[in-house]
Amino acid sequence: MTDIDELRRKFEEVENLPSLPTVVQEILDVTNDPRSGARDIQAVVENDQTCSVKLLKLANSAYYGFSRQVSSIKEAIVIIGMEGVKNVAMSLGVAECFLELGKANQHFLNNLWVHSMATATAAGVLAKKAQGVSPSYAYCSGLVHDFGKLILAGEFGQEYFELFEKAKEEKKGLVQIERSVLGVSHPQVAGWVARSWELPDLVIESVELHHEAFNLEAPLQHVTLTGIADALTYEAKIGDGGNGHPRRIDAQDLARGNIDQKTKDQAVADMVKNQDRFSALLNAAG
Ligand SMILES: [Fe+2]
Ligand SMILES: [Fe+2]
Repeated sequence: MTDIDELRRKFEEVENLPSLPTVVQEILDVTNDPRSGARDIQAVVENDQTCSVKLLKLANSAYYGFSRQVSSIKEAIVIIGMEGVKNVAMSLGVAECFLELGKANQHFLNNLWVHSMATATAAGVLAKKAQGVSPSYAYCSGLVHDFGKLILAGEFGQEYFELFEKAKEEKKGLVQIERSVLGVSHPQVAGWVARSWELPDLVIESVELHHEAFNLEAPLQHVTLTGIADALTYEAKIGDGGNGHPRRIDAQDLARGNIDQKTKDQAVADMVKNQDRFSALLNAAG
């Protein structure tokens, strides 16, 4: 059994973690400010040279397939939209961290990344309709919700991947298997990381509780949205987060998140439509 305190100390110390590009935090800050607008987002993205260059490269690639040249972030906001630019900038930032930690197993890295992007995409769509949760916060929560799996894979290697099989064979949830074998679970570890990155409380909570979303006595909408989005990616078979027993979302689950069937269908359609872009973005971040 793992010494949890030791592991926790290790991952709470920033030097043992890839640093999250500040652009992610700044986008969330700006989003949280009701007086802010497109110009502030433009300033935040322009302020990060690496992010701006990668974003413009993507905007001018087959990724979007625009016929006209996109030469500035201002123009990108006009063409892709403010929400789109925010999401791509946050994705590029988080992708850098995925790449830094996941190099050892490209297959797992790519599957988990696609799963995370799909969850983020769906969560953003759900939040837009459900109201009460900022779509950017929901999107960010989707991006990082399974980050703990990267950490555990890095820490335990093959032993960790075997838990995916064990969960499938024993028809148990991955979290339950992680707890019984390792003494620690991926939402718990992702929570440590989200805290040391100083992500907003709402994002930390969504990450820590995403597998408890439907068991909470008092439902938390942001957590429910992450839980629904996560389950929908498994249902749509986009990427692979390694959970052999994902929840099947039913009408009651949707009602808990204040989501109607039409919005659910739209979230799934958005993931399906964009799925080829998810790996492309990871490549562009490298
Ligand atoms: Fe998870
Ligand atoms: Fe997941």
